[in-house]
Amino acid sequence: MLNLCTLTSLFLLSATPLPREDGLRLQEDNIPAIVQALTLEEKATLVVGGGFKSMLSGFLGEKGVRVPGAAGTTRAIPRLGIPSIVLSDGPAGVRIEPTRKRDKDKTFYATAFPTGTILACSWNQEMVEQVGRAMGNEALEYGIDVLLGPGMNLMRNPLCGRNFEYYSEDPVLSGRMAAAMIRGIQSQGVGTSAKHFALNNQETNRAGNDARVDETTARELYLKGFEIAVKEAQPWTVMSSYNKLNGEYTQSNRWLLTEVLRDEWGFEGLVMTDWTGRRNTGRQIAAGNDLMEPGLKSQIRELVSQVKKGKLAEKDLDICVTRILELIVKTPTFKGYAYSESPDLQAHAKLAREAAADGIVLLKNEGTLPLPKTIQEVAVFGVAGYQTCIGGTGSGTVHAPYAIQIPQALQAAGIRVSASIQAIYENYLQKKARKKRKASSMLGEAIPPEFALDAQALEEDRADMALFVIGRQAGEGGDRRLEDDFLLSDIERKNLKAVTTAYHRAGKKVIVVLNIGGVIETASWKDLADAIVVDWQPGQEGAAALVDILTGTVNPSGRLAMTFPIDYFDIPSSANFPYDSQGKGSMNTFRKVRDRGRRNVDFTEYAEGMDVGYRYFNRAGVPVSYPFGFGLSYTEFTRSEIQQAEESDGSVTVCVNVKNTGHAPGREVVMVYGDGVLKGFAKTRRLEPGETETVRIRIAPYLRPRSFLMVS
Ligand code: GLC
Repeated sequence: MLNLCTLTSLFLLSATPLPREDGLRLQEDNIPAIVQALTLEEKATLVVGGGFKSMLSGFLGEKGVRVPGAAGTTRAIPRLGIPSIVLSDGPAGVRIEPTRKRDKDKTFYATAFPTGTILACSWNQEMVEQVGRAMGNEALEYGIDVLLGPGMNLMRNPLCGRNFEYYSEDPVLSGRMAAAMIRGIQSQGVGTSAKHFALNNQETNRAGNDARVDETTARELYLKGFEIAVKEAQPWTVMSSYNKLNGEYTQSNRWLLTEVLRDEWGFEGLVMTDWTGRRNTGRQIAAGNDLMEPGLKSQIRELVSQVKKGKLAEKDLDICVTRILELIVKTPTFKGYAYSESPDLQAHAKLAREAAADGIVLLKNEGTLPLPKTIQEVAVFGVAGYQTCIGGTGSGTVHAPYAIQIPQALQAAGIRVSASIQAIYENYLQKKARKKRKASSMLGEAIPPEFALDAQALEEDRADMALFVIGRQAGEGGDRRLEDDFLLSDIERKNLKAVTTAYHRAGKKVIVVLNIGGVIETASWKDLADAIVVDWQPGQEGAAALVDILTGTVNPSGRLAMTFPIDYFDIPSSANFPYDSQGKGSMNTFRKVRDRGRRNVDFTEYAEGMDVGYRYFNRAGVPVSYPFGFGLSYTEFTRSEIQQAEESDGSVTVCVNVKNTGHAPGREVVMVYGDGVLKGFAKTRRLEPGETETVRIRIAPYLRPRSFLMVS
């Protein structure tokens, strides 16, 4: 039985291309002739995007915009049958305007899938590829040609505002997850954009910051994930980042975009800029950056003038034009695909729930979970308990048709929610629900701050157990703060103390849920909780997935894709990360911040080199609160000795038998380390108690270490 995705792909490939008129028209096999026929003006037009009209159609109007809200387009050359194609965010799902003035009788919502971080914590490449297929199908059916994801920069420091969109502190886990996502999305006949290439590891002054790093660290840490994604999945496009790398903008960095990305790794696709203003367009083209997004008309004029003055070789422009045309002929637009504008959101929602449950991590469980049948009523504390942070703000926002909330999910599981506590929070949220600002309708908005719990409320509360939710809304455009963000706020501490004291006095338990976009401090308060679950930013069905874990419907199998340190300043990069130490808001991208007396932030020294995440904590023997790869289960597993076999292609296959020796069905993650770093991993299927699976893990030749050790 062919599933929907396969049927779509087959239909897509058979769709009749654009109608042919007489005269030369773009086809898959005549690109050199088209390049020959293009005028200089037309060539310059093709490498410069169509501007902000599409992204800002909610403000500027929908006239002439094919997909309102899509981040960008390319420009058409009708004379030669070259269409404009549509580029849309983002890594957690399609971001387009959910309603249209011109089309009142339908909506254009998309599924808000779990964000990159929680997908990575699933360690499940097959699941991520499935999510990619669904996301790619929504892009296809909404008329989009390239989906601008995955976001895959390395988590150098937990205060980076966009870590929610990224996968891990480890390049192998990042690269494998990105490759799975790319394969999934592109299986639907739409493209992807591996971003942000490269070393965009902070939001502070991102458009001006110079990332200064030695070449070994760059290659082995910050580029390695992109290398894996390119070699294993060939994304149709790569997005060059805002920042500089060792003094040269990545967007005009020939070493990065041509020598490494293409000559060494064999990248066959197109490089587009991030949504940057005009810099030095000729230099960008010469470096191998093929497309300027969002694109300004002045860039077209600059290119024509630079070629005419001999400052830019037309052959360099021709190379970029060729790559644009090679991209266009692959797209659904060029193939004339008749998109439906009605993807199967219901089926995708079900998948979003499964994927979220697969990535939720159980950090602590002292005889608390899964919830015993005796638990009839739960009191939910915390603003995010009633307004789940389903994803991040900024370009990675998704306009979902709904977001399940925790009380709703508990009730659906037959568990009552304390009405008195719920009323307090919901009244507060109603008061805080200010009129949606237009920008927030495009880029999402943060959740309101916590308030101090009233002691009286706790006195009257008769629930059997407490769910204490700590929410953090992360987002593009600014890095996180130390105070009231990485660290719990005073109000959160006081509330947690009050709730745990009241519940423990009554012999009841408290579960803490971390609905967060990135790592927070846990060591100073984790002893207060009886159980701790981190569900990150889990998408529109995340609350339902959380309750599936709490009730034991799903056995937690998530493992941390990054380290939770004891203290922020235990992290080597904390000495060189431009957090806003005064805690003054997070929109500090465009405002240079003074960082501990240093001059304004216009460069970042990656002085810690390879000492990022577990690489540092393991090497230096520094204790952490929760280590990379950590996660508890409701069952136990044993593993056989590792067997490794050399393959003819130079790769190594590692085999190990995993047995469920506990009393509940569950899944196990097997990680293979070599030379002290992650080299490969795999997740078992759901194993019944007593069941065994032989796990096979391939280590590619370019990832081979000198020695193997296997841990999980
Ligand atoms: C933003 C982001 C990028 C996004 C693009 C289009 O600035 O950095 O991830 O795809 O612009 O919205």
